[in-house]
Amino acid sequence: MKIVKVADYEEMSRVAAELLAEQVKQKPDSVLGLATGGTPVRMYQELVELHQKEGIDFSEVKTFNLDEYYGLDKNNEQSYAYYMWDNLFSHINIKEENTHIPNGKAKDISTECASYERAIREAGGVDLQILGIGANGHIGFNEPDDNFEAVTHLVELEESTIEANARFFESIEEVPTKAISMGIKTILNAEKIILLANGESKAKALQEMISGKITPEVPASILQLHKDLTIVIDQEAGSCL
Ligand code: PGA
Repeated sequence: MKIVKVADYEEMSRVAAELLAEQVKQKPDSVLGLATGGTPVRMYQELVELHQKEGIDFSEVKTFNLDEYYGLDKNNEQSYAYYMWDNLFSHINIKEENTHIPNGKAKDISTECASYERAIREAGGVDLQILGIGANGHIGFNEPDDNFEAVTHLVELEESTIEANARFFESIEEVPTKAISMGIKTILNAEKIILLANGESKAKALQEMISGKITPEVPASILQLHKDLTIVIDQEAGSCL
């Protein structure tokens, strides 16, 4: 595991965008695993700038997002599909058919999850996965005690996750209580992983993830076993290391 400590959110975002851009330059048909939430917003802005200024070409890139709220349509402004188009996809030359996000309105969840897994496999697997981390140690929406063996599945969100994400909604009652998420096993299959974290609310989870024991209580701790993990963290997130 490689730990890159940076000064602040700005630098974390710039470093992460440059790593992503480098991946795409090296392998123009890269399969990227993407994350949503507050953490990567600025990274996507930086990536858009790199596309505009340096011509980073996304025309052959494929993407698979980690998760989507269950019950939200892709046109709902709170959906992660909307987030991805708003923050990244509309501003770069990616082909719509090359972008993949679980369908939060799928009628048959198990078919949706199985076809998501199949699509990742058929694309050749994820070359580079971007992750954030929850204050409770979750990655994707794999909450504590979720199964290390799980692939894409329907998850019940923890109360703490609902509370953390309420800031993006008008009220906490509007936050969906379930999501479709890549499983830990799906995530671990990525060739390379970059985990980003900023702010002191992530400090304890990061400490447990990096130096604690590997346990489903801290889902991110399983990343200790990944062969190519880079963690980019700001001073506050790294304050307990
Ligand atoms: P955040 O979420 O980026 O909004 O802090 C990260 C996560 O829950 O994985």
